[in-house]
Amino acid sequence: MDARKCLTTMLLAVMVFGSIAIAAAEPVVIRFSHIVSENTPKGQMALKFKALVEEQLKDKFVVEVYPNSQMFDDNQIFEALLLDDVQMGAPSMSKFSVYTKKLQLFDLPFLFEDMAAVDRFQSSAAGQELLTSFTDRGLIGLGYLHNGLKQLSATKKLVTPNDAQNLKFRIMSSDVLEAQFRAVGAESVKKPFSQVFNLLSTGVLDGQENTWSNIFSKKFYEVQPYITESNHGVLDYMVVTSVNFWEGLTSEEQSALKSVLDQAIAHGNELAGKKAMEDRQKVINSKKTEIVKLSKAQRNAWVTAMKPVWQQFEGQIGQDLINKAFSTN
Ligand code: LMR
Repeated sequence: MDARKCLTTMLLAVMVFGSIAIAAAEPVVIRFSHIVSENTPKGQMALKFKALVEEQLKDKFVVEVYPNSQMFDDNQIFEALLLDDVQMGAPSMSKFSVYTKKLQLFDLPFLFEDMAAVDRFQSSAAGQELLTSFTDRGLIGLGYLHNGLKQLSATKKLVTPNDAQNLKFRIMSSDVLEAQFRAVGAESVKKPFSQVFNLLSTGVLDGQENTWSNIFSKKFYEVQPYITESNHGVLDYMVVTSVNFWEGLTSEEQSALKSVLDQAIAHGNELAGKKAMEDRQKVINSKKTEIVKLSKAQRNAWVTAMKPVWQQFEGQIGQDLINKAFSTN
């Protein structure tokens, strides 16, 4: 090889390897898609995650947050994760049933007495095992995030379970929730979160169940004259990614990301309790809806009507898991 050829080859090699080195240094983009407002525990957690990554891991990762179903609606997120169109999300656990039946646990009415019990269960060995219980379906849970306890809203005052008879409620895509409303003689329709306000305001549906933060941020209270403070179930999330994405990271990257995510989740969880109280108060202050409080005996009538649902699903969820969750009360 003459000197000129040799120099050209060397230059080419420098250009090729140099550009590979530059490409390798590009931060990995993590698209985080969710369906709620930014002013909610999940919205704030996602923004905190983005900020912490910018602060602590900006050479390695960049987080883009897409709120309000901008990118994907409720259940579309799972397929999007599997296709690597997004890398993270935090769907409500009521929406996982295609991938695992075990998370239906969280939908059982009146299973947890309060959010402290939910927290105890989620951090127990049984709760932690659930995070990796569906990796064979290509998804992996990275942590739990709270929203809070659900309330019932409707066009009619709901005091006794009979009051719900023949009303049509919007539910998340969960068979347990369908059975829960059937247990009080009501109908239910599985619809995406982004459609709830319209379905209620146009009178297509009569009611829905949700947390104070979702009822407030999506203005459901403006189109529902009554909200029964039932605290009958929990709406919590699992932060998920795909096994493919997660396993594509080095173990150092995984632990760095997990540590930042844990901080963001802790922030979201702390906010969840506060927001539930604040948003409840804002709904009361609005005077646009009547808050229906239940006496102990009145609430017990709902427990009696809805609790048989547990038995219907114990085969799918596992009696042992239900017992462990209940024992955290
Ligand atoms: C719902 O669909 O009502 C909730 O899952 C929305 C959410 O993500 O909090």
